[in-house]
Amino acid sequence: MPDASPIRTERHDDVLVIISDNPPVNALGAAVRMGLEAGIKEGVADASIKAMVIRCDGRTFFAGADITEFGKPMQGPGLGTVIDMIEASDKPVVAAIHGTALGGGCEVTLGCHYRVAVPSAKIGTPEVKLGLLPGAGGTQRIPRIAGVKLALQMTAVGDPISAKAAHEAGLIDRIVGEDSLEADAIAFAREVADKRPLPRASEKTATADPQAVEEFKKANARKFRGFDAPAANIACVVKATDGTPFADGVKFERDEFMKLMMGTQSAAQRYMFFAERQAAKVDDIPAGTALRKIAKVGVVGAGTMGGGISMNFLSAGIPVTIVETAQDALDRGVGVIRRNYENSAKKGRFTQDKVEAMMGILTPTLSLDDLADCDLVIEAIYENMDVKKELFGKLDAIAKPGAILASNTSYLNVDEIAGATKRPEDVIGMHFFSPANVMKLLEVVRGAKTAPDVLATVMALAKPIGKVAVVSGVCPGFIGNRMLSQRGAPANTMLMQGVPPERIDKALTDFGMPMGVYQMSDLAGVDIGWHRDPTRIESIRDALAAKGRWGQKTKKGWYDYDENRNPSPSPEVAEIIEEFRSKSNQARRDYTDEEIIGALLYPMVNEGAKILDEGMAQRASDVDVVWIYGYGWPVYRGGPMFWANTVGLDKVVAGLEKNGVPVAPLLKRKAEAGEKF
Ligand code: 3HC
Repeated sequence: MPDASPIRTERHDDVLVIISDNPPVNALGAAVRMGLEAGIKEGVADASIKAMVIRCDGRTFFAGADITEFGKPMQGPGLGTVIDMIEASDKPVVAAIHGTALGGGCEVTLGCHYRVAVPSAKIGTPEVKLGLLPGAGGTQRIPRIAGVKLALQMTAVGDPISAKAAHEAGLIDRIVGEDSLEADAIAFAREVADKRPLPRASEKTATADPQAVEEFKKANARKFRGFDAPAANIACVVKATDGTPFADGVKFERDEFMKLMMGTQSAAQRYMFFAERQAAKVDDIPAGTALRKIAKVGVVGAGTMGGGISMNFLSAGIPVTIVETAQDALDRGVGVIRRNYENSAKKGRFTQDKVEAMMGILTPTLSLDDLADCDLVIEAIYENMDVKKELFGKLDAIAKPGAILASNTSYLNVDEIAGATKRPEDVIGMHFFSPANVMKLLEVVRGAKTAPDVLATVMALAKPIGKVAVVSGVCPGFIGNRMLSQRGAPANTMLMQGVPPERIDKALTDFGMPMGVYQMSDLAGVDIGWHRDPTRIESIRDALAAKGRWGQKTKKGWYDYDENRNPSPSPEVAEIIEEFRSKSNQARRDYTDEEIIGALLYPMVNEGAKILDEGMAQRASDVDVVWIYGYGWPVYRGGPMFWANTVGLDKVVAGLEKNGVPVAPLLKRKAEAGEKF
């Protein structure tokens, strides 16, 4: 065994235990693969050894290939080679699983002849989420053991399954004691030591199920839209079941894996994996900073945002006190929370008991004084600076010393809000995205005086409530909405040049955005921010609002809507646009889809560059995380800044100049230097 190998072996009489100790997640890097190979060789060569066990130290079994090695020259044996060697062993090898056996880690277990797991273990092949597929035989072995349906689900959707589900599917042979994994695995190894023939997944045959494949594709069509990897995963699973010999199936799998690995989509998705984790780190705050304890949360406002925000904490088991000004509004807010939970329970996401448990830790009240014992109070009332300042003044007097006071404002100045208190160091922005119980982004707004431990506490809080947090400085609209605001003007210019709204929207949805500019306006409400004077018509928006075209809520806005909220282009809107167009001096101009995308998105990239230059975002990848998790930017395009790199920054600059948009200095500098974000 090489010096300082992360793999060591221990003998227990006739059983050799091969142990990996490669923190934090036992990724299968070169040294681990070499060590595993050496461990198996040792067990095979030693006549006194009758069986082997593979297990891991630390918090988890192998969590997959080492993603940081991807795209670099391969060192040591390939994972597929090591797994084939395990399977070829003439002595039984037992995988002893705890934590998460993921990706290559799951594939190692499938090469083993037997698998035992603790009840809390999970196993899965999430490679598809990195734009990949299990590339070490996983797509060929899973269907041979567990059948087509589960194999499709595990590979092409990529969510891990519980030890119990894996046991039922034959992927786990025995569930063992939570605290006695090694001893139970050794005992199991002894039980099977003399059993022959050895069960080898590669020698099994899977039955084809074309109907299941078609149904699966249909059921997931929306989810898979735009992504390359799901189809490749499905093709590999089909190969495993259509009579293709195992070795040929593995070769097919390898070729598909390499195609995906070389593509832009997987590069974008791997980049996002690390970007998301990087975002949690605040450069000037040491990792070990002592955090404030958040055992109880207060939420002011029981509207859509306040209710959604509360749900995040209740779901994580953190008690919430929710405050409203009137009983009926409070009842309505609490009713919506309950209904949302009950709907989820009906869909089988959790039990009715769990609903009651979550509702049981919610305290509705009409008195701000009841927030006195909260460790964190989040304000989620309407966007008005004076009202917010008044509220923060009150909260300052009520909240206990050390409590964090947060505002959910989406664009107001957090420093000004903090100025209404005597503790600006305890004030921070926590900008949730609607629907707040669903959208994963949490923009954390760091005020000029926000204390480091307050920021660190809120950043750390994101994980238990299922959010991805990104730090933003104080600027209008912060990172996300500041960039979003850049696309309104070019969209309007295109309308004035004769491009219909549905064309503009389609270009965006074809690009992979969940909705276009005008679909979003209809969802949010065309009347939001409208001056409410139907006789004052200065813009197309004013004209729509004056006619009651307020969006989905009035069944007409930029589009007409049927009973099922299906949109169709509106002749009335087309007329209004044409009226404005003919009065403007704009000449008609044709746009290709690519030009529409450039016109809308390059100004956003440009704004992202300004945000970076001003230090409002820590890093370009943080900007990308905001867009992926807050606005549904297609992850396979890696966020606006990553996407701009793939387009070429010189091309972005040229596109902005062509449309008369002043280019941000940082973008210009980078483009001229041939650099990337
Ligand atoms: N390779 C390299 N680094 C990894 C890694 C991997 N497979 N998995 C996690 N890490 C790193 C993370 O980047 C993070 O680093 P940091 O501390 O410097 O930010 C650290 O390990 C801890 O990770 P998390 O913060 O994510 O820890 P959690 O406890 O929240 O989650 C986990 C643990 C569930 C294992 C999660 O890390 C995860 O999902 N990992 C990726 C699993 C995966 O995608 N595996 C498939 C890899 S591809 C593959 O196997 C190809 C094969 O088929 C050939």
